[in-house]
Amino acid sequence: IDVLVLNGPNLNLLGTREPGVYGRDTLESVEKRTQEVAQTLGVRTTWQQSNHEGTLVDLIQEARGTYKGIVINAGAYTHTSIAIRDALKGVGIPFIEVHISNVHAREEFRAHSYLSDIADGIIVGAGVLGYELAIRILASRLMDPPK
Ligand code: DQA
Repeated sequence: IDVLVLNGPNLNLLGTREPGVYGRDTLESVEKRTQEVAQTLGVRTTWQQSNHEGTLVDLIQEARGTYKGIVINAGAYTHTSIAIRDALKGVGIPFIEVHISNVHAREEFRAHSYLSDIADGIIVGAGVLGYELAIRILASRLMDPPK
């Protein structure tokens, strides 16, 4: 199965950005490691990152017909973007919301997500392992869907 892994703004800075919060792994190294694990689960992942809200909307729209699931860390757009919410709802592809940090243990404005109530699962505060966990959730659900 094909899964799209979408990363939003500033996640391209992973490894150097607030390492105390987000760790020292680069997005590229996370991508490589996670892809290897995904492969053993029969999941092929495509990774995309954009700092632009509209580009993320485009990528979600274009996912229709190609991807059976989406893993999305929308970064700060999580807390602001009705457009990304509408796109995910519009395409109807099951998705797992990921946050590297525990957004509930930080500033209050990070506690609200425009995605959580329509997500098929949420992983927060698991560090970069969250991407792998999200893929595992999608793999098990898509291969053996709940009745
Ligand atoms: C984040 C949490 C967001 O609040 C923040 O804006 C990010 C990263 C995370 O992965 O912990 O950019 O989504």
